[in-house]
Amino acid sequence: MLSGKRVLLIIGGGIAAYKALDLIRRLKERGVAVTPVLTRAGGEFVTPLSVSALAGEKVHQQLFDLTAEAEMGHIELSRSADLVVVAPATADLMAKIAGGHADDLASTLLLATDTAVLIAPAMNVRMWQHAATQRNLATLTGDGIAVVGPNDGDMACGEYGPGRMAEPLEIVAAIEAAFGAGPLSGKHVIVTSGPTHEPIDPVRYIANRSSGAQGAALAGALTALGARVSFVTGPATVPPPPGVEVIAVETAREMQAVVEAALPADAAIFAAAVADWHVANAGAQKIKKGKDGLPEIALKENPDILAAIAGRSENRPNLVIGFAAETENVAEHAAAKRARKGCDWIVANDVSPETGIMGGAENKVLLITGDGAEDWPRMSKAEVAARLAQRIAAALA
Ligand code: C5P
Repeated sequence: MLSGKRVLLIIGGGIAAYKALDLIRRLKERGVAVTPVLTRAGGEFVTPLSVSALAGEKVHQQLFDLTAEAEMGHIELSRSADLVVVAPATADLMAKIAGGHADDLASTLLLATDTAVLIAPAMNVRMWQHAATQRNLATLTGDGIAVVGPNDGDMACGEYGPGRMAEPLEIVAAIEAAFGAGPLSGKHVIVTSGPTHEPIDPVRYIANRSSGAQGAALAGALTALGARVSFVTGPATVPPPPGVEVIAVETAREMQAVVEAALPADAAIFAAAVADWHVANAGAQKIKKGKDGLPEIALKENPDILAAIAGRSENRPNLVIGFAAETENVAEHAAAKRARKGCDWIVANDVSPETGIMGGAENKVLLITGDGAEDWPRMSKAEVAARLAQRIAAALA
């Protein structure tokens, strides 16, 4: 699939640069030619010798390198590849690309290229979450640059959260997707995510503790395999991944309408923690306290979006996947839920507080399909997402 392609790989200056070495190996195994470029800061983390030995090619490092200019000018270098990959893409490199800077070889190549660009950001959590980086990210995606990661997890700097560079195989999958060769290219997948908010009045609502982390990771993993993802999200705390179409909703009833409007789809994955009830007598104005004693909140059942989509006779996605958050008898309850909802697969997990799964970065799931139950080891939500996306791709193939 990738054989015969040429990738210009720009290695930025971050601790994740060591993973770029493995990325080169993985690409070479797949018959990809790699032209490596090492930034000055990148050279502080990995040596030009290891990069060139693995790539089997000269490493380009200097903008004003007379020998290189005589052999191949930087403009030509920027256009010689089928894809430019920046891994790790540091906050500084992202800012340079977004601002159109050209003050070193890497930024000049990125400005001069007419080739598609994929970046794999890696940085400290705060740097990633900083408004400036998020602004730059929006600019880059708006300019058509593809993004893979970053993942959530423990970081080399001792902090925890989004900022870890995507793993080499996830970057390979994103490269395949960039070439339109991802296993989910041409497929449309709907993913619901996050909690719903059910208003009591204009200022108060019923909610739950879902962060939206697993749904966001899944949407990112599906995009990396080439899928077109409609990401239907309630008010989550984890931001949506780049590259998906985000449809923000608040209530379960809005979520159902939006999911139905997004059909047809090849697969639909219901990772949202949908509220079971809404307030039937929600106040049009803020309910005043103390006037007539305590307010009576009348609850009414919400539509079951998963069951409704799974039970459709028309436009039912080929693969409908539900999640089951349980606190006891996980396997038994999840198998019963699969039958009750009429979905194809259930991804079940134990969300009892001692597991730290709800709102945390790890997950321990049981995948229930028509063939039985598979117990997956505890892993990061990003890894669960990547593995599930691979299974979805295999099922839709
Ligand atoms: O019934 P329960 O809430 O445990 O089912 C969980 C699964 O059903 C999840 O996949 C969730 O997204 C979905 N669901 C839904 N609409 C609801 C309730 C749950 O789509 N009203």
